[in-house]
Amino acid sequence: MRRFLHLLRSNWISWAGAILTTLSFMVFVTSWVYMGMHGSHHSAYAGLFVFVVVPGLFMTGLAMMPVGWFLYRSQMKERLARVQEKPMRLVRLLAVLTLVNFSVVGTGGYEALHYMDSQEFCGTLCHKVMSPTYEAYIDSPHARVACVECHIGSGASWFVKAKISGLRQVLAVMFDSYQKPIPTPVHDLRPARDTCEQCHWPEKFSGDRMVIRRHYENDETSTMSTTALVLKTGGVRPDGKAMGIHWHVHKDNEVTYIATDDRRRDIPWVKFKGKDGKERVFVSEGVDRANPPKGEVRTMDCLDCHNQPSHSFQDPEIALDRAITEGRISRELPFVRKVSIEALRMGWTRDNAGDGIQKHLMDFYRQRGEVTAAQQELVQKASVALTAIWRRNIHPDMAITWGTYPQFQGHVSMDDKPTGCFRCHDGMHEDEEGESISADCGTCHTMLADRDKDPDVLKKFGLEDQ
Ligand code: HEC
Ligand code: HEC
Ligand code: HEC
Ligand code: HEC
Ligand code: HEC
Repeated sequence: MRRFLHLLRSNWISWAGAILTTLSFMVFVTSWVYMGMHGSHHSAYAGLFVFVVVPGLFMTGLAMMPVGWFLYRSQMKERLARVQEKPMRLVRLLAVLTLVNFSVVGTGGYEALHYMDSQEFCGTLCHKVMSPTYEAYIDSPHARVACVECHIGSGASWFVKAKISGLRQVLAVMFDSYQKPIPTPVHDLRPARDTCEQCHWPEKFSGDRMVIRRHYENDETSTMSTTALVLKTGGVRPDGKAMGIHWHVHKDNEVTYIATDDRRRDIPWVKFKGKDGKERVFVSEGVDRANPPKGEVRTMDCLDCHNQPSHSFQDPEIALDRAITEGRISRELPFVRKVSIEALRMGWTRDNAGDGIQKHLMDFYRQRGEVTAAQQELVQKASVALTAIWRRNIHPDMAITWGTYPQFQGHVSMDDKPTGCFRCHDGMHEDEEGESISADCGTCHTMLADRDKDPDVLKKFGLEDQ
C-alpha cells in the first residue's frame, strides 16, 4: 500500500486526482447517509451538489490519475523500478480499488439520474423559469404525480431523449436564451398513450359528470347565481361502443386534424376514421377538401382537451368566483366582486402585488365612508386571497399574464377567438354531405341551470343551502 501511495505521488496530477477522489468519496458517503437519515426533504441545491457535482469531482479525480501517469511516464518508470513491487500484487490492488470505484460511480450515477427525475430538481432548480409551472403543478390534481411520469414515461429511448433535451434546456437557462413565456403546446411531448393512459385507461371512461358552479355579479351584494350541467363525459357504453366526450379516444375512433398555427387554435381541417375504415373530412368554409392546408398534422389524444392537466393557469373570473364560494372573500363587503376583479387585473409586480391589492381595496372602502374594524379584517382576508390568486397566475418576468396559456377542456375563451371544443365544434366544419361537427349544446352537456338565481334543480338534489 505504501508503495502504491508512492506511485500516486510520482507526479502532482495523479496526486491531486487521488486527493480529489478520496475527498469527494467521503463527502458523498457522509451526505448520502445524512440525507438518508433526515428524509428526502432537502433543498434542490443540496441535491444538485451531492448527486451531480460531487460525483463529477470524483470522476474527474479518477481520470486525473492515469493522465498524470501518462504525462509523466518517464518518471514513472524510474519509480516503478525503485518500488520493486511484485507486479501481480500491484495489479491485484489496482483491481480491488477499481471495483470499489465502479460501485461508487455506479451508485453515484444512479442516484444522480434518480435525483434528476425528482420534482424538486425539475421544478425548482431553474427557479425563475420553472416557478410558474411548478406553482401551478403543486396546486393541481397531479401534485403527487412525478414530473417524469408525464414528461418522460418508461423506456430507455425516451429517457435518453429527455436527458439530451434537458441538457439543452439547462444551457438555454445558463445563457438566458430561452423563450418567455415558454411556448405551448409542447410539440415533442411523449404521446399520451405512453403516459396518461398508464394511469387512466380510456376503456374505463363511462357515465356522466355533474358540474355545479357559482357565479357572482359585480353589484353591491355580489349576487350569486348557479350554473349546473351534466357533462356527458362518457367513453364506453355497456355494449362497448363509443359515446360522449371521451368518444374521441375510444379505440375504434381516430380523429386527425391540421392546425395552421403554433398554438393549435386554428383548425380548418378535421378527419374522422371509424372502425370500418370509412373516412369523413370536415373543413371550414373556403378550405379545399382535396388540398389540405399546410400545418401540423396531429391525431387527437388526451392532450387536445386536457392540455393543462398539471399546469393549469386560471381565468381570473373563474378563480375569483371560486374564492368567494369557498368563503375566502366575504360577500359582506359591498361591491367586493367588482373591486376584486379590478384589483386582479391591475399591473402589479410580484413584489408590490400584496400591498398594492390591499391598498386598492382599502382606498375603495375608505372612499365610501368609515371602515369598521370588522370590515378591515375582512378586507385584509380578501387581500390575502386575491394576492394568492394573482401570484399563482401572473409572472411578469416570464411574460405570463391572464390568458397566456389557454385551456382547451371547455369553450370559455379569454379572447374573441373560439377555443377548446369550439375549435372544431363550431357548426361550421362540414363534411362532403354538408353535415357539420355538432355545435348543438346538448351534444356535450345537459344544462340544468344557467346563471340561475334561484334554480329548482338544487332543491331537487337537496343542495339549495350550499
Ligand atoms: C399529469 C402530467 C404532467 C405532470 C405530472 C407534469 N407535467 Fe409538465 N406538462 C404536461 C403537459 C401535458 C404539458 C404540455 C402543455 C401544453 O402543451 O400546453 C406540460 C408542459 C410543461 C412545461 C411547458 C410550459 C408550461 O407551463 O406549460 C414545463 C416547463 C413543464 N411541463 C414542466 C413540468 C415540471 C417541472 C413538472 C414537475 C414539477 C411537470 N411538468 C409535471 C404534463 C405534466
Ligand atoms: C402516475 C399516474 C398518473 C398519470 C401518468 C396521469 N395521471 Fe391524471 N390523475 C392521476 C391521479 C392520481 C388523479 C387524481 C384523482 C382524483 O383526485 O380523484 C388524476 C386526475 C386526473 C384528471 C381529473 C382532474 C379533476 O379535476 O378531477 C384528469 C383530467 C387527468 N388526471 C388527466 C391526465 C392526463 C391528460 C394525463 C397525461 C398528460 C394524466 N392525467 C397522467 C394520476 C395520473
Ligand atoms: C374531446 C376532449 C377530451 C379528450 C380527447 C379527453 N378528455 Fe378527459 N375529459 C374531458 C372533459 C370535458 C372532462 C370533464 C371535465 C370537467 O369535469 O370539467 C373530462 C374528464 C376526464 C377525467 C375526470 C374523470 C371523469 O371521468 O369524469 C379524467 C381522469 C380524464 N378526463 C382523462 C382523460 C384521458 C386520460 C384522456 C386520453 C385517453 C382524455 N381524458 C381524453 C375531455 C376530454
Ligand atoms: C380536433 C377537432 C375536435 C375537437 C377539438 C373536439 N372534437 Fe368532439 N368531435 C370531433 C369530431 C370530428 C366528431 C365526430 C363528428 C360527427 O360524427 O358528426 C366529434 C364528436 C364529439 C361528440 C359526439 C360523440 C358521439 O357520441 O357521437 C362529443 C360529445 C364531442 N365531440 C365532445 C367534444 C368536447 C367536449 C370537446 C372539447 C373538450 C371536443 N369534442 C373537442 C372533433 C373534435
Ligand atoms: C363540443 C362540446 C360542447 C358543446 C357543443 C357545447 N358545450 Fe358548453 N361546455 C362543454 C364543456 C366540456 C364544458 C365544461 C368546461 C369546464 O369544465 O369548464 C362546458 C361548459 C359550459 C358552460 C358552463 C361555463 C361555466 O363555467 O359556467 C356553459 C354556460 C355552456 N357550456 C354553455 C353552452 C351552450 C349555450 C352551448 C350551445 C351553444 C354549448 N355550451 C355547447 C362542451 C360543450
